[in-house]
Amino acid sequence: MRISVVGLGYLGAVHATSMASLGHDVVGVEVDPAKVEALALGKAPFYEPGFDELLTRVQASGRLAVAADPSAVAGCAVHFVCVGTPQRADSLAADLRFVDAAVASLVPHLAPGDVVVGKSTVPVGTAARLAEQVEAVGATLVWNPEFLREGHAVDDTLHPDRIVYGVPAGAAGQRAAAVLDEVYAAPLADGVPRIVTDLPTAELVKVAANSFLATKISFINAMAELCEVAGGDVTQLADAIGHDVRIGRRFLNAGLGFGGGCLPKDIRAFMARADELGAGEAVAFLAEVDGINNRRRRRTVELAAEVVGGDLAGRRVAVLGAAFKPESDDVRDSPALDVAERLAAAGALVVVTDPQAVGTARARAPQLTYTHDVTEALDGAEAVLVLTEWRQYRELDPEQVGRLVARRAVLDGRNALDRAAWESAGWTYRALGRS
Ligand code: UDX
Repeated sequence: MRISVVGLGYLGAVHATSMASLGHDVVGVEVDPAKVEALALGKAPFYEPGFDELLTRVQASGRLAVAADPSAVAGCAVHFVCVGTPQRADSLAADLRFVDAAVASLVPHLAPGDVVVGKSTVPVGTAARLAEQVEAVGATLVWNPEFLREGHAVDDTLHPDRIVYGVPAGAAGQRAAAVLDEVYAAPLADGVPRIVTDLPTAELVKVAANSFLATKISFINAMAELCEVAGGDVTQLADAIGHDVRIGRRFLNAGLGFGGGCLPKDIRAFMARADELGAGEAVAFLAEVDGINNRRRRRTVELAAEVVGGDLAGRRVAVLGAAFKPESDDVRDSPALDVAERLAAAGALVVVTDPQAVGTARARAPQLTYTHDVTEALDGAEAVLVLTEWRQYRELDPEQVGRLVARRAVLDGRNALDRAAWESAGWTYRALGRS
């Protein structure tokens, strides 16, 4: 099939490339010339495991074209909208200007019978509003939320755990669902649960899923706060409750909390939208979820001060990790980078390192000192803070690291280190949610 993908960020670039790898002819449209240039040369504009290889393979097949001009979508039968919906600068709500612009840029090039597929995370009701413009030219708008995780984007796109379509009632909706079935034919959809629903449910599924995940993380981080004052161990508590299959152990890792381009802004946009709909009370608890999450960042800074003896001013602190999670170079709302900035603001001499995110972190927080070399970051440090649980950091040898630092004091912001190994190498070990 001939497919267009509008917006080539994390979601769109991986989606476009994955669809081409399935044998579709794909045109990607992107307004950022740097992204167009990189992708046209077969280079990934961000770090995502497995993406470079897929892109190289797809480029060789000639099935992926990239363009800056929206008219390149003409002749495609299916058009995916994959642009971002960041938080507005002036409120908690989602900024819909990119979605609105993407649909407006598509409409003049649509033919009757075309299917426009929204994948961006939007406030409920957006699809119904956009559908009017799309239907005016005889095309159909459906909503098909995407659940990919950064760091696993390729695998999640090609092997989803469910497929959800929101379609309008009637024959046009049924036909659009059949067209999407063709796009996601075997092997992608083989054995994958498929839920076909209405537009508002499909929009809500995505924010409900992300709100649940954020709530799960903040729940365990609230328990971490209790463990800290009561003398418990949140990692053992998570193991113990996680054995109950109704609860499950995944997403119960206590620590610095959630960040990234999705969870924080999605729960805020959900609260804003629920307020607009007169149902703010229904999701008021998400303010607490956000509050617990932010308290973890403050607590990490307090703990870092304790580790260096009370006052951070002038103390040399090694920050290991800047990305919001391992296997990503994304620093959007990164808890690690936020804590590094707070430490520096308190006067600490912070050196930040990360296997992939030094460039993106430097662009966002240029006031900090960075190095690509973990040894250089550790050299002479009076405290070592592990804030993103990259495998490289989990596997550090405490004895070797001990020879580089000025004091053997470590703060495990992600409960990712082998505590016994660090303590037996003479380290003072502190962590969130453990006494
Ligand atoms: C999330 C959703 O998981 C995905 O389905 C959706 O499509 C987009 O948003 P992503 O933002 O890539 O994906 O990352 P995710 O793996 O969900 O992690 C989000 C944050 O939560 C990270 O900062 C991570 O460190 C943190 N986290 C995750 C925890 O603090 N504890 C956990 O147990 C799990």
